[in-house]
Amino acid sequence: MTGFRVAMEPADWLAAADLIDWSVSPQVALDTGKAPLCRWFPDGRLNTCHNALDRHVEAGHGDRPALIFDSAMTGDRRQYTYAELRDEVARVAGMLRSLGVGKGDRVLIYMPLVPEAVMAMLACARLGAVHSVVFGGFAAPELAKRIVDASPALIVTATCGLEPSRVVEYLPIVAQAQALAQSDVPKLVLRRPQHEVALDPANEHDWHTLLDRAEPAAPVDVAATDPLYILYTSGTTGTPKGVVRDNGGHAVALAKSMALVYGARPGDVFWAASDIGWVVGHSYIVYAPLLTGCTTVLYEGKPVGTPDAGAFWRVVRDYGVDILFTAPTAIRAIRREDPDGTHIAAAPLASLRALFLAGERADPDTLEWIEQQLGVPVIDHWWQTELGWPAIAICLGLGERETRSGSAGKPVPGFDIAVLGRNGERLPAGESGDVAIAAPLPPGCLSTLWANDEGFVSTYLAARPGYYTTGDNGFFDGDGFLHIMGRSDDIINVAGHRLSTGAMEQVLAAHPDISECAVVAGTDPLKGHRPVGFFVLRSGAQRDEATVAREVVERVRAEIGPVAAFREAVAVPGLPKTRSGKVLRATLRQIVDGQPYTPSATIEDPAMLSHAQAALARAGITQPALQQEDPA
Ligand code: COA
Ligand code: AMP
Repeated sequence: MTGFRVAMEPADWLAAADLIDWSVSPQVALDTGKAPLCRWFPDGRLNTCHNALDRHVEAGHGDRPALIFDSAMTGDRRQYTYAELRDEVARVAGMLRSLGVGKGDRVLIYMPLVPEAVMAMLACARLGAVHSVVFGGFAAPELAKRIVDASPALIVTATCGLEPSRVVEYLPIVAQAQALAQSDVPKLVLRRPQHEVALDPANEHDWHTLLDRAEPAAPVDVAATDPLYILYTSGTTGTPKGVVRDNGGHAVALAKSMALVYGARPGDVFWAASDIGWVVGHSYIVYAPLLTGCTTVLYEGKPVGTPDAGAFWRVVRDYGVDILFTAPTAIRAIRREDPDGTHIAAAPLASLRALFLAGERADPDTLEWIEQQLGVPVIDHWWQTELGWPAIAICLGLGERETRSGSAGKPVPGFDIAVLGRNGERLPAGESGDVAIAAPLPPGCLSTLWANDEGFVSTYLAARPGYYTTGDNGFFDGDGFLHIMGRSDDIINVAGHRLSTGAMEQVLAAHPDISECAVVAGTDPLKGHRPVGFFVLRSGAQRDEATVAREVVERVRAEIGPVAAFREAVAVPGLPKTRSGKVLRATLRQIVDGQPYTPSATIEDPAMLSHAQAALARAGITQPALQQEDPA
């Protein structure tokens, strides 16, 4: 079939299961008895934390660095060997247990990028508890939705996160979220010196005080199919989807991916410059490097401005990073500040073997620039929160080096990727369609949505029988390289952060002076996408257009979070629609990007297009589009 390289059949996965330790080794690879819900390694038992830490200590690698923490925000630098990290995590697990957390309980983690956040995740895994990490850039109402859905037994948080422009106080955000969610579960709070506050003895426990008296907890044996974590991600509605990852399939797939995709070996220093609030952080800051016996780097800071565009290269040099993984946005930001790569030239980066990019489309211009600067392979690869590990890549572990400009690579063994046409037929090379993956998905991909098997099936499996729908569209070229063209739904990627314009529309629509609205993605030269809102004032509106525009920007920040980077909204007399009432979002996108457009033949009132154009021009927010390459 087009582009498929090497098959990974269930029997091959059973062999791959030897990459990890089991208390009961699986004899069965895949249980399809309840298809389309499938379970990997149904008879296996293990503990993921044991595999990430204890196993390496027991194998004599206790002195190897497991975690390096570097904060560009505070100057704090810490290293934990595998033995030290195991001991810390065992005590953190004991501390969680003393707060009543047990197997199967959910623990919500809302923390900055500090070692204690990683320890909290691993401690949950040690107890068989299910963590759900929420990115710090989300506002209280988003946090509340996750509290309601996951119903955690405990919330682990900190007094603050650190952004270059401000100290982000977490406790008021958590308090507001708990009030919205009507939740009174206790909180375990890491007090950071950058923001010391008194805790409420009624339901706020101090991390350091409790840890001092905590007993270490041993790993708890769980079924391979038991959930390890829930990670919420943007869907097409305002309700986030709780992606569930199991223990066994996850551990096997991630261990396999490190060698197969990244060419990583035990002892390598692996740095995923992301956040534990995203899937990249879950998989490639925390679990995969530790499962493999690598040293993982945790970096609190930005690629630029903390203090400059040399920050990444300093970290690579100081810790001898072998493999670096980041989002294209970070490289665009670095290039903008340091176009000649002077910081790169100044830092000998002899250790670096490869740079991997994902999370959003890597524009070839940026990719070529960084490849030239670094002189190592720069590999774009594609995956999603749902999948947990790369599905399309150039696999260093297979000895591959050839990349193709504009393509995210070829299907990774285990993923049978197809480009489907309108009637579900597999399209030949060169034809664009929906990117889908033949079911069942390989290990490590989502097993379901939290407490919502039906939603899992209807969201991902029902539209294309026999396939998982990715929501992306693209095409294979004649050599089997897959080119991702964008989403077919309203998901956008702002600085590599996945967001839903539908969720933003809900916030705008709730404004009392707005009768209808649309939020579309404009092209942003730094962040890839940026959301732009159009709204129609209600007749008899109490406020003027400028006030409403300002208020909706504030509301999106307060309801969804600063990470949405929603800064542009304009009033229009009406939205461009088809005669059947469908908003012409694609045309609005073209208008935002200043691209030529042909009005739809079914448009209700073509004047609405020029009104939209004029509104943007008045607000001065039409920007030149990024150079759009012709993918064909
Ligand atoms: N907690 C609280 N707020 C956060 C946050 C966090 N963890 N992360 C981001 N924010 C806030 C920022 O402070 C900013 O708020 P502001 O509007 O008050 O300035 C807003 O969210 C947008 O942040 P960000 O996306 O980081 O944009 P930026 O303009 O501050 O920085 C880049 C631009 C390119 C440097 C930055 O986006 C970046 O480092 N991108 C890499 C992306 C990445 O690693 N993605 C992970 C997927 S692999
Ligand atoms: P997330 O779930 O946050 O990882 O976002 C997944 C989505 O990001 C995918 O469905 C794609 O739309 C987009 N994406 C991720 N990686 C790439 C890539 N390498 N090229 C193009 N789009 C990507």
